[in-house]
Amino acid sequence: MAPQTSTKALVALLALASFQQLAFAAPTGTTSAAPAATGLLGYNPSNTVKNEDTDNIQYSLVPGQTDSAVIGAYLDFNNVEHPQPIRGTKGGTDPGPRTEEYDVLNPDKLAPPGTDHGGVDNAQWPMGLSHMKLGLGRAGWSRQQNVDNIPAATEMAGVDMRLEEGAYRELHWHKAAEWSLVLNGSVRVEAVNEEGQTFVDDLSAGDVWFFPAGVPHSLQGLKGGVEFLLVFDDGSFSEDNTFLASEVFAHNPKEVLSKNFGGLPLSAWDNIPAGELFIFPGTKAPTDIAAQNIVGSAGVLPIEQSYTYHASLASPNHVTDGGTVTVIDPLVFPIASKFSAAIVTVKPGAIREIHWHTTSDEWNFFIAGSARIGIYAAQGNARTFDYHAGDTGYIPKAMTHYVENVGKDDVIFLEVLQADHFSDISVGQWLGLTPPQIVMDTLNLTNTTVSQFKKDKQYIVQGAVVA
Ligand SMILES: *[C@@H]1O[C@H](CO)[C@@H](O)[C@H](O)[C@H]1NC(C)=O
Ligand SMILES: *[C@@H]1O[C@H](CO)[C@@H](O)[C@H](O)[C@H]1NC(C)=O
Ligand SMILES: *[C@@H]1O[C@H](CO)[C@@H](O)[C@H](O)[C@H]1NC(C)=O
Repeated sequence: MAPQTSTKALVALLALASFQQLAFAAPTGTTSAAPAATGLLGYNPSNTVKNEDTDNIQYSLVPGQTDSAVIGAYLDFNNVEHPQPIRGTKGGTDPGPRTEEYDVLNPDKLAPPGTDHGGVDNAQWPMGLSHMKLGLGRAGWSRQQNVDNIPAATEMAGVDMRLEEGAYRELHWHKAAEWSLVLNGSVRVEAVNEEGQTFVDDLSAGDVWFFPAGVPHSLQGLKGGVEFLLVFDDGSFSEDNTFLASEVFAHNPKEVLSKNFGGLPLSAWDNIPAGELFIFPGTKAPTDIAAQNIVGSAGVLPIEQSYTYHASLASPNHVTDGGTVTVIDPLVFPIASKFSAAIVTVKPGAIREIHWHTTSDEWNFFIAGSARIGIYAAQGNARTFDYHAGDTGYIPKAMTHYVENVGKDDVIFLEVLQADHFSDISVGQWLGLTPPQIVMDTLNLTNTTVSQFKKDKQYIVQGAVVA
């Protein structure tokens, strides 16, 4: 430790100790007499105010922080000491208490752009702050985001789940429909529908599956295990509230089970699990998938109703200078009739252009990189939120939003809508297709500016900022 640092640390320690002593230390043991009943109340001429010197907080402002607040540049607080809630001419220093790691991760909360105004419902939740549910035998885990974490997220909820090689998410079903993106590794998915048609497939990172509400399914990690993201069409969905094969057997009388299965002996049920298995280790899946292709009189699920879509092999629908958009919606994956999703890559500095969705809320998951989303919510309300890999986001229908890459690496994120196809209204295209005089009169823009508005959607723009 450098002498300078240790002196600084010592001063800080002494300051903290004396502060705690003066302000908060309770009289200890029997040595201190109880203070007189009124001795500490209100004004007293002998009272001395302890003036802590908070004017000497050491900090530096980052690029953009002193600019006019409406410019609203992203403030990169990485590698600065003691970031401060200051933007343009507003704000002030924060002597603490504080946890600076939060401020570095959320600069748009600490020092919001001057264009933020009023209130917008919370639109961000890191899966890293969700409670983990740990599976049996180190077979995996899950964590979720639902209305408990983002109260505005009423239409969709998400679960992040890991299954080690051979581990199962036990046979189950639920009231919500389930859409899933494989994030890492590979998995075998299996289901049986109302007709008795069967389905089995293997998926790897970038592929998706869908199970309609009520259709029972199971999942098993293949070599190296798997991590996937589940999205449900119900914001109050909870992974703790699913219907389980183990519980069907644990919570029906054995007499009924014996009759139900055509007169099997009661002893057949001697060793059934007492309750939920959830995630547990299993016998590794056979490499030959055909060995698990059980077929009844109804045959296999017709290919056009497939529960899986190998999106990892799909080409992007839109390729721009700023990034790519790969759409996975019912036009290519028909069984997922309400799930319209896009996997979006935004290069450093680029933005997914300002847009809104006409009839659906949007659920987000950040797969890589760091971004910010600015949401405008009518009545002058606007707020900016910060996102990092592993975070979820939620944007109610009709509210404009952009996604700006604020880091040095590509941002990869997922947009999920409840819609029959993926669509948006681009602010740029809308105004590019509006008679210029109307736009000029409304926004007090010059003809030169308006003439540069594009008539086509840009999706992702790698634009420069010119002073
Ligand atoms: C999966 O995770 C492993 C371990 O973190 C990593 O090395 C690998 O690159 C990941 N694969 C994908 C496709 O993200
Ligand atoms: C804008 O300028 C272009 C030429 O640059 C001209 O053709 C057009 O009429 C102008 N429009 C308006 C509304 O002034
Ligand atoms: C439009 O901009 C001009 C030039 O800055 C300004 O003088 C004028 O007041 C503005 N008009 C409105 C309606 O804001």
